[in-house]
Amino acid sequence: MKIIRAEKAGFCFGVKRALDMAERTVLSSSTASLGPLIHNKQVVEKMEKQGVRVVGEVKETEAGDTLIIRSHGVPPDIYQEAQRLQVEVVDATCPFVQKAQRLAAEASKTSQVIVVGDRQHPEVQGILGWAGVHSIAIEKLEEASELPFYEKLSVLAQTTQPAANFHSIVDELRKHTKELKVHNTICNATEERQTVARELAGKVDVMIVVGGKNSANTRKLAGICSEHTQTYLIETADELENNWFKGVETVGLTAGASTPDWIIEEVNKKMSNMENNEMNEIMNMEDWAA
Ligand code: F3S
Repeated sequence: MKIIRAEKAGFCFGVKRALDMAERTVLSSSTASLGPLIHNKQVVEKMEKQGVRVVGEVKETEAGDTLIIRSHGVPPDIYQEAQRLQVEVVDATCPFVQKAQRLAAEASKTSQVIVVGDRQHPEVQGILGWAGVHSIAIEKLEEASELPFYEKLSVLAQTTQPAANFHSIVDELRKHTKELKVHNTICNATEERQTVARELAGKVDVMIVVGGKNSANTRKLAGICSEHTQTYLIETADELENNWFKGVETVGLTAGASTPDWIIEEVNKKMSNMENNEMNEIMNMEDWAA
């Protein structure tokens, strides 16, 4: 059985940066993160053991604590509240998300701001916070078509938006304004991983996608792969099952943006061992036949 690992898989730049910042911080102070640092249970548990507790609100921290802002970013009032409570902030907002926040804040001075993305997602809520109370999140094309007419519109994207959804909404928005400013803030990391996974899934018998089952980008990767081949989504190597690989010649391996390398490696190693075990079984049967 041949195992092919996707060239681009696992941590994106922003998540890696956030975890590096958290690891450096934990050495020096009482540390909390505002929400789980990433959508990966194993990593969050590991960080908790190292001393990073997860809080839901700034008021759960005390003066002198350090609060890590995760890569999704937050609205401006969170920084203000931390300052008021004398909590030090380590801002691990991904620079690409920061750029979207800056553009949204700037655009809101002269136009109606629309963010294409999941309105419940913390990144979108953060960007809306920078753009002010009148800004709107839109998830689907139908919602865009129901909008009234605006003098000026500015549209941005959640960084993990599928490009096709963003572009179809942009086309619809043109009908709802005299002046549309488009800020394509989609991050390449997501698209790159999806393209590489799609290509790989088209060439193998089975795809293994590793990542948090509550991670939207991991589920999306699994969805794309399953359009092309038999696909299994797992969080750790323990979930691998021998019968998935019976008669299989090639297996593709990819992982969501919040999956650390050590978990991908464990999966890779266990699959290689399964292969050896299967070979041993075959050899033993041949010995027996002889
Ligand atoms: Fe940043 Fe892109 Fe990752 S926006 S957090 S590098 S998916």
